[in-house]
Amino acid sequence: MRDKILNLLNGGDFVSGEKLAENLNVSRTSIWKQIKTLKELGYKIESIKNKGYKLISRPTSPVAEEVTFGLDTKIIGKEVHYFKSLPSTNVFCKKLIKDGSPEGTVVIADVQTSGRGRKDRRWLSPEGGLWFSVVLYPHIPPHHGMLVTMTSSVSIVQGINDVTGLSPMIKWPNDLLLNGKKVCGILTELDAEIDRINYTVVGIGINVNNSIDEKLKKTAISLIQKSKSKISRVELLRSILKNMDENYSKFISGNFNYIKKLWFSYSNIVGKRIRVKGEKTIIKGIVIDIDESGCLILDTENGITRIVSGDMEYI
Ligand code: BTN
Repeated sequence: MRDKILNLLNGGDFVSGEKLAENLNVSRTSIWKQIKTLKELGYKIESIKNKGYKLISRPTSPVAEEVTFGLDTKIIGKEVHYFKSLPSTNVFCKKLIKDGSPEGTVVIADVQTSGRGRKDRRWLSPEGGLWFSVVLYPHIPPHHGMLVTMTSSVSIVQGINDVTGLSPMIKWPNDLLLNGKKVCGILTELDAEIDRINYTVVGIGINVNNSIDEKLKKTAISLIQKSKSKISRVELLRSILKNMDENYSKFISGNFNYIKKLWFSYSNIVGKRIRVKGEKTIIKGIVIDIDESGCLILDTENGITRIVSGDMEYI
């Protein structure tokens, strides 16, 4: 109902409580309650007796009403949940999945108190960043799960580029770098049986307007450090979701080659000499391809080697 109220207030004039109630077929008390919630979410709404309500300004936080406003997507973002604070948006998504949340559900938090990174690392998630997760149910075998992450990383690059003009590079397997420093990380978690994925949660953390912790300054960066002006997290998220919707639709209809080409163009990795540190191994070689499971194919001194995971460095 709140999105409908916002639609009616969008003209910028006063709209009476009576007219809102009539349009939405509810009581004036429930309009008043919804206006109160909108104010709590950060909408500035003037209310004057006998005149009604006037929308003065919208929140800067990526609240659900802002993210979904006119968002014309087929799958991604059909259901959006926003929280001022959550332990982790990935963890919350898994709870929603148990309750039967539809594909494309998005969970956003302004702040995460126990943000999670890859390999059980902590992910600092202060105010000003964009921390969100997307629920997906792709009909693919589990060993193709990495392709979902690749589809997401391509969409994030496009979203960042559309909104800020900046062009981050993809670093295999799932980091985005700006000026050689990490600006975004992706944690894809999945639950699967031998031949099929039950669900995938793609958790995305982007340093947008937030400051970077002193200890991470050598390796991490925020978009604001390279952008001329403050970035709208709402606009950025909407653009990422739109791109993700298009790319994911292509991916599930079998057109992975399209995603792969984009991924290559944003990663610039083919032909580069790299070193990949695994749990117990270090492998060096020249990248010749990425296979259908998202694994790196390296030309090494011991022949062609397929790398499933690890931390890579250019050498
Ligand atoms: C990495 O280690 O590079 C992945 C970081 C992923 C962080 C995001 S923020 C939103 C989502 N919720 C989490 O707890 N983690 C992911």
